[in-house]
Amino acid sequence: MTRWISLGTGFVFVFVLLVAFFAPRETSEPDPIKALHLKPRNVQWQHDGPGGLGVLGTFDRAQLQRGYQVYTEACAACHGLRYVAFRNLADLGFSDAEVRAIARQRQIADIDPNTGEEITRPGVPADRFPSPYPNEIAARAANNNAYPVDLSLITIARKGGQRYIYSLLVGYQPPPPGFQVTPGLHFNPYFESVQIAMPPPLMPGRVDYADGTEASVEQMAADVTAFLRWAAEPELEARRRTGLATIGFLLILSVLAWFTYRRVWADVQK
Ligand code: HEC
Repeated sequence: MTRWISLGTGFVFVFVLLVAFFAPRETSEPDPIKALHLKPRNVQWQHDGPGGLGVLGTFDRAQLQRGYQVYTEACAACHGLRYVAFRNLADLGFSDAEVRAIARQRQIADIDPNTGEEITRPGVPADRFPSPYPNEIAARAANNNAYPVDLSLITIARKGGQRYIYSLLVGYQPPPPGFQVTPGLHFNPYFESVQIAMPPPLMPGRVDYADGTEASVEQMAADVTAFLRWAAEPELEARRRTGLATIGFLLILSVLAWFTYRRVWADVQK
């Protein structure tokens, strides 16, 4: 009897599995937003290294300086960079005096050590880039309730990384026919929901490059993305160098260990 029951149960399970396997899938309507959404473009920077492997890449200092200029002139009005201090800019090739001058141009919120009052004072190299808004509520209030995120870590925080940031900046375009753009938003197929609250921040000639580079949208986008990549990890080059040195050290150690092993066991009869 038990045997029949277990056999029956087995059949029921197999039947259900077979039905589940062969039954046609429920067909859902294709999501129109997903169909419009594009993957980031395939772009490369000098700091990505040969083959984009990232191993031997170093930042292009001139590009970082241009990117810094784009950030200050075209992004800083809305986006902060709170993990970067002015003194870090020395790494871009700015002299001490230039870093001081850059810091002095910005007003930093502070407390007067004598009276305890809130004050603003000119920046010093140890200060970090101030956020353009006092807090998130003020930031949203000024931007149609969307939040302009801090850009310090953006190139490593978003899926697609630098390529995504670059694509987003060059990706503004007219919507396809029949697509209704929500008022206050802008069509951009690289943004997850294809409509973004950020107005296009780059127009040809938006900045005037001191080194004579033509300020096309693509150029500015590549430069500012490189700068933001640096900002996210100023120690990137040092980290890669240390990594290479460590691998070299381990290789030499392995060779030495092999010879030691041969030596130690050389006299032992098989
Ligand atoms: C007028 C204000 C303004 C300016 C100028 C501006 N942004 Fe934005 N940005 C925004 C707002 C608002 C959002 C949030 C958009 C949203 O959530 O729809 C945003 C979002 C972003 C995002 C995040 C996208 C995501 O995946 O969430 C990046 C990256 C960005 N901006 C980069 C830049 C860069 C680089 C510049 C300068 C070239 C710049 N922005 C200039 C207002 C601005």
